[in-house]
Amino acid sequence: MELLNKLYELAKSNIKKIVLPEGEEERTILAASKIKDINVAHPILIGNYEAILNKAKKLNVNIDEIDIIDPEKSDKLQYYIEKFYELRKNKGVTIEKAKSIVRDPLYFGTMMVKCNDADGMVSGAIHTTGDLLRPGLQVIKTLKGASVVSSFFIMMVPNSCYGEEGMLLFADCAVNPNPDYKELAEIAIATADTARNVCKIEPKVAMLSFSTMGSADHETVEKVRMATELAKNMRPDLLIDGELQLDSAIVQKVAKQKAPNSSVAGRANVLIFPDLQSGNIGYKLVQRFANAEAIGPICQGFAKPINDLSRGCSVEDIVNVVVLTSVQSQSKITL
Ligand code: ACO
Repeated sequence: MELLNKLYELAKSNIKKIVLPEGEEERTILAASKIKDINVAHPILIGNYEAILNKAKKLNVNIDEIDIIDPEKSDKLQYYIEKFYELRKNKGVTIEKAKSIVRDPLYFGTMMVKCNDADGMVSGAIHTTGDLLRPGLQVIKTLKGASVVSSFFIMMVPNSCYGEEGMLLFADCAVNPNPDYKELAEIAIATADTARNVCKIEPKVAMLSFSTMGSADHETVEKVRMATELAKNMRPDLLIDGELQLDSAIVQKVAKQKAPNSSVAGRANVLIFPDLQSGNIGYKLVQRFANAEAIGPICQGFAKPINDLSRGCSVEDIVNVVVLTSVQSQSKITL
């Protein structure tokens, strides 16, 4: 919670414009009102003006001071269409296709971020992760020096001694179905940088597997080994080790037995999963069984911040992700 408070203070110190393309959705309207009230960002709702005002009235929230943009009535629509066409014409997009694509609020919001009319975007209360990521991947692209967009969760496990007094970063739990070893190395490094720059903790990165330091052999284990080696070579300043089973990574007693020479084993605070199946299942297990708060998924590697929500998200979840998006936008690092 201390971390969240810090992030809220950071967001307040430099207000960023965050576009919410699901502007007609009730939790999003309530979140926008709260964001404005506590002054952590400048929210922009996208949608039909009348529909948003009627919903707000029904919800009894004041959105007088919140910007609403209806793509159909926006004087930027034509500009965004032309810009999108330019960006995607080599991928087969015609001007006719661009006209219909950019009217979609998710694409319209992405174009706002691309054209510096907003600093970041948060969506996903009613859209799938793929729906949100695709416009971002096509238009915003990766940050200079990064080749892969991935995601992380900040997991806050109550009454736990693991990680940083119960706080751990998990990646990638939402984007890359089956990263190759180079992508896995990049995900590990990006998440370590996030731990340092945003969570202000010194990362100890465990590359997870069903094997600990050669206890088993399989091509999927070999991928984790190669990723570990590459990540260590790329960033010798970081503590990264693997391959490690989950218990070797976080339980000191097990680490002493299975990986006594590891600088990470037994005290890892950043867990890198070998693929999306394990990452997605893993974070949900901890969230449900340990009653952990899962903040995210937060994307890292985009040239400008775009973030996803779970469709089961609460108003508070939306506010939290908007705060993180604002902080990402301030720091301009490979988040
Ligand atoms: N990083 C950078 N660029 C990427 C990435 C990536 N991880 N993935 C795709 N791209 C690029 C492609 O190179 C392509 O660029 P181009 O069109 O300019 O050539 C563009 O993005 C689109 O690529 P596609 O292959 O058409 O996109 P795809 O259909 O594979 O979708 C997506 C990519 C949406 C990320 C897909 O991999 C996906 O659905 N991932 C899983 C999402 C998910 O369902 N997560 C679980 C639920 S989330 C939760 O539970 C919290």
